[in-house]
Amino acid sequence: MTCRLTTDPEEAAAVIRAGGLVALPTETVYGLGADATNSTAVARIFAAKQRPAFDPLIVHLASFEQWPTVATDLPPRARRLAERFWPGPLTLILPRQPRISELVTSGLPTVAVRVPRHPLMHAVLEQAGCPIAAPSANCFGRLSPTRAEHVRDQLGDVIDLILDGGSCDVGVESTIVRPDAEAATILRVGGLPVEDVAAVAGPVRLATADIPTAPEAPGMLPQHYAPRTPIELVTTAPAPPTGARWGLLTLAPTARDGYAATEALSETGDLVRAAARFFAALHRLDALGLDRIIAVEFPETGLGRAINDRLRRAAATP
Ligand code: TXA
Ligand code: MG
Repeated sequence: MTCRLTTDPEEAAAVIRAGGLVALPTETVYGLGADATNSTAVARIFAAKQRPAFDPLIVHLASFEQWPTVATDLPPRARRLAERFWPGPLTLILPRQPRISELVTSGLPTVAVRVPRHPLMHAVLEQAGCPIAAPSANCFGRLSPTRAEHVRDQLGDVIDLILDGGSCDVGVESTIVRPDAEAATILRVGGLPVEDVAAVAGPVRLATADIPTAPEAPGMLPQHYAPRTPIELVTTAPAPPTGARWGLLTLAPTARDGYAATEALSETGDLVRAAARFFAALHRLDALGLDRIIAVEFPETGLGRAINDRLRRAAATP
């Protein structure tokens, strides 16, 4: 049986308070929310998503002022980032408050915290009166949802309610930053451009294999965000072989012969608009039963970096 859709944040908050699972719209992607202080509810998130328990969740708050309810410290670098970019697509890694279920943090001494700016999500947080743990509302390793229908298709049978807030306007997951003493370490590139983080946080480093981040950040797993259709990331789109049904995902539309379907994400090359449309376009291509999706690399700047990151991980999936 497929779960109900509602547009009433009050109803969503009541289900969360009662220990239920609700898909919630945020400005980045839809999250699958539960009371972060209720271990049973949090355990249901892992079961619904088929998510491995070593993969910790992000805790969402209604406002900046609530940080002491989930973390024990807000170092100066973190405070500058939070004051500037919350509410918004920024997640900070902070020392964990014992009140937060250890399931949420997968036993780590740290907790990932975010204040989202979507008005419906904000209303749910206010009315539920608890921090809400929410991973993206997709099955583990699959495409993230940016519309209520995406959630219903993947998880409709195993959750209690979907709060329909329309399309997510940022469209890629939050940028995850660990504010270390010497620098801000970016664990996941996302909806807040690296350039913006650097402007406020000072020195920034991108997590690579030599900076220890694992096992905690499966957003960092090489294989992630995968459509069912095989996907290939290229710098220039090749011509499809005769008879093959290939789809093309690209930034600006350019006439290319032989493709069965094309998704061009921004006529003007606007990367913010492209990010907002990115997952929905992949969901559409994936639904066509194509032999292959060819994605043309986006400019490696601003939100193009976050799009390329998702495409590389999708292409790494066998
Ligand atoms: O935009 C977003 O961030 C969305 C919306 C719903 O807020 N959420 C989201 O959650 O993308 P999820 O679970 O798909 O990705 C969370 C990432 C995972 O890669 C996880 O490993 C990492 O956050 N993470 C969570 N807690 C962490 C911690 N204490 N240290 C390092 N990484 C952590
Ligand atoms: Mg996810």
